[in-house]
Amino acid sequence: MAECEGAKSPMELYEKLTAQGEQVRALKTAKATKADVDAAVQLLIKLKTDYKQMTGQDYKAGCPPSENSVAPDNGPAAGGADDEDTVDPWNVSTNNAKGVDYDKLILRFGSSKVDKELVDRIEKVSGQKSHRFLRRGIFFSHRDMHQVLDAYEKQKSFYLYTGRGPSSEAMHVGHLIPFIFTKWLQDVFDIPLVVQLTDDEKYLWKDLSLEDCHRFAVENAKDIIACGFDVNKTFIFSDLDYMGASPEFYRNVVKVQKHVTFNQVKGIFGFTDSDCIGKISFPAIQAAPSFSSSFPQIFKGRKDIQCLIPCAIDQDPYFRMTRDVAPRIGYPKPALLHSTFFPALQGAQTKMSASDANTSIFLTDTPKQIKNKVNKHAFSGGKDTVEEHRKYGGNPDVDVAFMYLTFFLEDDEQLEKIRQDYASGALLTGELKKLLIETLQPMIEQHQQRRKQVTEEEVKQFMTPRPLHFNF
Ligand code: TRP
Repeated sequence: MAECEGAKSPMELYEKLTAQGEQVRALKTAKATKADVDAAVQLLIKLKTDYKQMTGQDYKAGCPPSENSVAPDNGPAAGGADDEDTVDPWNVSTNNAKGVDYDKLILRFGSSKVDKELVDRIEKVSGQKSHRFLRRGIFFSHRDMHQVLDAYEKQKSFYLYTGRGPSSEAMHVGHLIPFIFTKWLQDVFDIPLVVQLTDDEKYLWKDLSLEDCHRFAVENAKDIIACGFDVNKTFIFSDLDYMGASPEFYRNVVKVQKHVTFNQVKGIFGFTDSDCIGKISFPAIQAAPSFSSSFPQIFKGRKDIQCLIPCAIDQDPYFRMTRDVAPRIGYPKPALLHSTFFPALQGAQTKMSASDANTSIFLTDTPKQIKNKVNKHAFSGGKDTVEEHRKYGGNPDVDVAFMYLTFFLEDDEQLEKIRQDYASGALLTGELKKLLIETLQPMIEQHQQRRKQVTEEEVKQFMTPRPLHFNF
């Protein structure tokens, strides 16, 4: 999308107009010939007409068009059918109680569906039963997974890369989804993992100090370690530390920065002229860990090791950009596995917010808090009265307690029985919620136990650039 002859968005046109206005002024100030000034004015008038046509508004210097008129991503549009759902790294919302329409998202982003064939293949190649997140369509979309498996079958290894933006000390269960799955991938494929903690990103986007962001990164690392990662196979890093410590990492950041234009990031992320320049160049920093040469201590300087990124689908814009530049700077494109969002207690219209304690179950919640939150706040697909519920049954598709069970209950048969019983009315909302509470309480308690055992020394080990137990 680099060759922008005619402007494609109102914002682009607005910027062209502003530049042309300045050009006319400059020519007049420089006392240019009448012919030159006239030509510049003609172009200005034409741009103004185009602008009015595109936006229905008159151009006004200093008043950019509203952000909504800028396409939030550059994926191929699904015939304009995706008007309701918003999915980008900063916003997720939909009007549908069942949540975002993920099939439409696959079309819009141009990724591929994780179908039964792929799930079976992962099972075959890894020699392990597929993780419930794969069996249940939670990791629902991918890019280039077949290529990764083809290579793996020919003894060509790959590595995992995932990350977290440390915006507060408190993490909720939704934050664990990519890490639980990444841990499984690491175990079954026996491969290295790098985890990026984007403390720099949170400093740029939020009203937080650098010190706080860095402290949150270290605190979050403890929760990540508590997921059970092997220190011999895992490198966790804070951008604020690693960017300065690794010349190879920074070189890759600069390579990406040279090959992506401002226009491109505006198109992909919706940045505007008033965003700080740190934000505008940040995507290069999230791209760099996708290249094995960013970690010479692990990959011995090799730049051809393929990367696989498990992440929530809202991070895809970063990696569309990364895949676009990779071949131009001589690196393989990273492959991806995308997850759906973990719904807020209030319903699947949005993802959870770390800043509102009642929208989610936190990793620090007590058994009592878990019980109260589920009972009080979990949106129910049940009927208003027991009589009606028994008669008509509940709707598991919009019921948050049921959705949470699909994430955390291991037994497929038990889950299916719960679904049927709830839909038939045999299982009441209170009973369904009790099942969820009994699943979450021990899970969170175990996490808290493991986190308590993570020592400062261990965190330091995980976060020190060092060789891992692999031979490349
Ligand atoms: N930007 C992500 C966030 O705010 C953090 C992140 C960095 C990430 N690199 C990643 C997430 C790779 C998934 C995969 O949470």
